[in-house]
Amino acid sequence: MAENTLTITDNRTNKTYTVPVENGTIRAMDLRQIKTGPEDFGLMTYDPAFLNTASCKSSITFIDGDKGILRYRGYPIEVLAEHSTFLEVAYLLLFGELPTEKELKQWVYDITHHTMLHETTKKFMEGFRYSAHPMSMFVSTIAALSSVYPEAKNVHDAANRMHQIVRLIGKVPSIAAMSYRHNVGFPYVYPDNDLSYTENFMNMLWKMVEPKYAAQPAIARALDILFILHADHEQNCSTSAMRSVGSSQTDPYLAVASAASALAGPLHGGANEEVLKMLDEIGSKDKVWDYVKRAKEGHIKLMGFGHRIYKNYDPRAKIIKWSAEQVFQVTGRNPKLDIALELERIALEDEYFVKRKLYPNVDFYSGIMYQAMGFRPEMFTVLFAIPRTAGWLSQWQEMLTDPEQKIARPRQVYTGHDVRQFVPIEKRTAVTV
Ligand code: SDX
Repeated sequence: MAENTLTITDNRTNKTYTVPVENGTIRAMDLRQIKTGPEDFGLMTYDPAFLNTASCKSSITFIDGDKGILRYRGYPIEVLAEHSTFLEVAYLLLFGELPTEKELKQWVYDITHHTMLHETTKKFMEGFRYSAHPMSMFVSTIAALSSVYPEAKNVHDAANRMHQIVRLIGKVPSIAAMSYRHNVGFPYVYPDNDLSYTENFMNMLWKMVEPKYAAQPAIARALDILFILHADHEQNCSTSAMRSVGSSQTDPYLAVASAASALAGPLHGGANEEVLKMLDEIGSKDKVWDYVKRAKEGHIKLMGFGHRIYKNYDPRAKIIKWSAEQVFQVTGRNPKLDIALELERIALEDEYFVKRKLYPNVDFYSGIMYQAMGFRPEMFTVLFAIPRTAGWLSQWQEMLTDPEQKIARPRQVYTGHDVRQFVPIEKRTAVTV
C-alpha cells in the first residue's frame, strides 16, 4: 500500500477507499466518491469556522502555533523586526524576496508617490459625523476609491494589479490620518515626500502649524516595528475574507474594504481597542483577580488573550512588550502597563488559562503602546489595518495567480424544513420564532 495514502472503510457499505495524503491533508473532493448508492451526493467534510480546513496553499507566512514561530517568506519575525523596515517587509510579502538596495529605493519611491488622495476624498470624508469611528471611515473610504480607479477591475492584468497594490499601500496611511483629523476637527495634512512611510503617517496625523514635521525617532521606529509585526498572519479571519471576496474577481479596493470590515470585529483586530477598555474597567492592579475570576466563570473574555493558532506565547506580543519599553522611555510609562503585567502574571499561572493554552496575543500590549504614543483607542484597529493591507494584498495576489483557486462557494449541511405547502395569510397562526 503506498505510504502517503489514507484507507477509509465505509461501514455503511463495507466498501474501502484509498485517498492520497498530500501536505498532511486529504482533498475534500476525494471524499465525494464515498456513497451509499447512486443517488447519494457523496461525503463532504463539515468544519464550522474552518477549525481544521486548509482553504489554500500559500508560501507567504508560516506559523507554528505550538512553538510560537512566525516567519514571513521564511524570515523569522524577530529578525525582520530588528533589521527591516515595514516597506521592505511589504516588498518581501508581495514579491517573495528581500529587495536589493536598488529595488527597495524604487519601491519606496513608488509608494511615496502614491500617498496623495483624490481631492474628492475630502468631500467624502466630510460626510461622516465628527464622532464617526475611524474604522468605519477607513473601510468606507477605501471602498470609495473603487469609484476613482475603475481600471482596478482588471485583476488579471499583472501591471494594473501592481499599480493598484502600490496605490493602496501608499494611501492607507493617508486615509487613516484623514479619519483621525476629521475626528478631532483639525485640517487635513498633505503627505511630505521627504519623510519615510511611517514618519509621513505621523506627519499627516500630528503636524500642526510648524513648517516641517519632525517625527520623534524612537516613536517612528517603534511604529514601524508594529507595522512589521501586523503585516500578515496567514489565513486569519480578515485574510480569509480578502481571499473569499477577491475570488469573485471584484476589484482590490472593495476586497480590502471587506477584509478591513472583518478586522474591525472585537474578536479579531478590534481586540486591541477592547484591551484598553478592559484595563480601564479593571482600574487597578488589586482588582485584576476579580476580573480574572469573571473570565474563568465564562462571563467575559480576557481581551488580548488566546489565539486560534498560537497555543504558546504569540511571538509578536514578546516583541511589542520589548518595544513598548523603548516607547515609554520617551513618553513616560503608561500606568495601564502595570495592570496588564499583573493580569498576564495571574493568567499565566492559573489552571483555567494554562489548560486552554491562553497566552497574550498581538493585541494585548499593542494598545498600551499605541496609547502611550498618543493614539486614541478608536484608532488602534486602523493602525492594525494599515500594515495588514500589504498582507491582504499579498494573499489576494497569490489567490488570483493560483491555478487551483476559483470563486469561493462553500457547501452546507441543510437542517431546515422539507418541502411544505404554502399557507394563505388568513390561515396562518402566530409562531413564536
Ligand atoms: C487577532 O487568526 C489570527 O491570526 C488573528 C490575528 C492576526 O494577526 O490576524 O492574530 C489577530 O485577531 C488576535 C486575537 C485577538 N482577539 C482577542 O484577543 C479576543 C479574545 N480572544 C478570544 O476571543 C479567542 O481567544 C480567539 C477569538 C482569539 C480565539 O478563539 P478560538 O480559537 O475560537 O477559541 P475558543 O473561543 O474556542 O476558546 C477555547 C476556550 C473556550 O473555553 P471552553 O469553551 O473550552 O470552556 O478558551 C476560552 C473559551 O471560552 N477562551 C477564553 C479566551 N479565549 C478563549 N477565555 C477567556 N478569555 C479569552 N480571551
